Amino acid sequence: MDKKAEAEKSAEMRTAELLKDAREHHVPVMMDSGMAFLLAFLKEHTEIRDILECGTAVGYSAIRMASVRWDMRVDTLEIDPDMFAQARANIEAQGLSDRIHVWQTDAAQFETDRIYDLIFVDAAKSQYRRYQEHFMKNTRPGTWFVFDNLNFHGIVDHPDLSSNRSTIQMTAKIRKFREHLLQDPRFETVFYPDIGDGIAIAQRIL
Ligand SMILES: C[S@@+](CC[C@H](N)C(=O)[O-])C[C@H]1O[C@@H](n2cnc3c(N)ncnc32)[C@H](O)[C@@H]1O
Repeated sequence: MDKKAEAEKSAEMRTAELLKDAREHHVPVMMDSGMAFLLAFLKEHTEIRDILECGTAVGYSAIRMASVRWDMRVDTLEIDPDMFAQARANIEAQGLSDRIHVWQTDAAQFETDRIYDLIFVDAAKSQYRRYQEHFMKNTRPGTWFVFDNLNFHGIVDHPDLSSNRSTIQMTAKIRKFREHLLQDPRFETVFYPDIGDGIAIAQRIL
């Protein structure tokens, strides 16, 4: 095996270890089918270089996205100080600190002049509409938004699956957001209910 292939292999092994560790510690990283779908989308859309992620957790999805092509960069936002510290360490261990920049902040407070090619929204589920509006100024016609967890384990469509009041309130907000997004004239949106935990891809057209 040549040096490049060896380095790629060990990066893959570290990512697999990171995923295993995250799952063991109940960190809510993206589901495998959702991740595979997102990575295939990024591979197909070679024009995507600049990504913003809301909700870093331990850096798993940011590392997977930045590993698609060497010229991609990811800004990723995490509110929780412990998650932030773990993400920073994981990104450093993968040698990706020059291409993945992680901020400890409420995503809805983050300000930048950067225009992104894709914005991956995976932070507080009740705040998706807020993130969408907040980051409109960081988009251009053509920018993609990807929203994960629009089913929230089936509870969005079947609130009776939960007896927890705050979960029911939160999933009602997701349902409202989903309806809003599918009718938003600024975007062309496709909702994939059977992929991962329900993913929507919305491209800004206006
Ligand atoms: C579903 S996890 C992200 C998983 C990650 N994208 C992955 O697949 O590897 C959601 C993360 O968003 C963070 N979060 C929640 N509210 C947030 C906010 N307002 N701003 C930034 N991050 C937030 C949580 O602390 C949590 O780590």
